[in-house]
Amino acid sequence: MPDTDAKGIHGLTRLPRHIAIVMDGNGRWAQQRGLPRTAGHKAGVNAVRNAVELCGQYGVEVLTLFAFSSENWKRPQKEVSLLMDLFFSALHREVKRLNRNNVRLRIIGERTAFSTKLQERIHAAEEITAGNSGLVLQVAANYGGRWDITQAARQIAARIETGNLTSAEINEALLSEYLCFHELPDPDLFIRTGGEQRLSNFMLWQAAYTELYFTEALWPDFDAMAFSQALQSFQSRERRFGKTGEQARSETGKD
Ligand code: IPE
Ligand code: IPE
Ligand code: MG
Repeated sequence: MPDTDAKGIHGLTRLPRHIAIVMDGNGRWAQQRGLPRTAGHKAGVNAVRNAVELCGQYGVEVLTLFAFSSENWKRPQKEVSLLMDLFFSALHREVKRLNRNNVRLRIIGERTAFSTKLQERIHAAEEITAGNSGLVLQVAANYGGRWDITQAARQIAARIETGNLTSAEINEALLSEYLCFHELPDPDLFIRTGGEQRLSNFMLWQAAYTELYFTEALWPDFDAMAFSQALQSFQSRERRFGKTGEQARSETGKD
């Protein structure tokens, strides 16, 4: 059980409801050890297990992990197919544990690009965990923020074509209804491991007001200490959402 005290869980007073992570640095982690890049991806799966457990302990509601971007198909074919195999076997291996821990798993991204077998396994894993009420774990696979916005635009255009919508009715609220995970809160905290400071096409719409946190730690090394440092950094952020600092502070005070 987490040690809750007057200052909140593990002494933290503000916890993100939704954390989004770009799990970067697997290849470099392996190369530093004289291993093939693929060994880094395998080690990365253990870090995923840790992160899921930590989110459960801290009471985070949603964790979204960027596992494979719509641009990662450009990598050498051998690496892409290893990543697909790893995804396939991890889904099989981890689903029981996730289910035991009351985690609801969902995969976001263009899944029709995957093999039929992988699509079936994704579907099965989602079905098995669908009724769980704990952490929502989203794995972004063949995901891109631009893809998400594009597929939303296509759905909206189709409604206009059939006469069910007019262009004047399109506003931010309507568009967001067609995006992935529109029913969940936007990410509060974005973490990117591996030292790069960029979004790499992750959550372009939903990250409009997300707090960004970058760490040099490579993804396989992202442990409980690194996780807690990211949460510590989140404590000192003042989220203004366009308002003045004074307004933001008086509203937080009311909570
Ligand atoms: C992130 O690690 C995992 C994927 C993109 C699948 P990388 O493979 O990008 O690792 P680096 O950035 O080359 O070290
Ligand atoms: C972003 O990492 C995607 C994932 C972690 C899945 P990349 O390694 O693909 O990003 P770039 O190419 O360095 O921007
Ligand atoms: Mg990378």
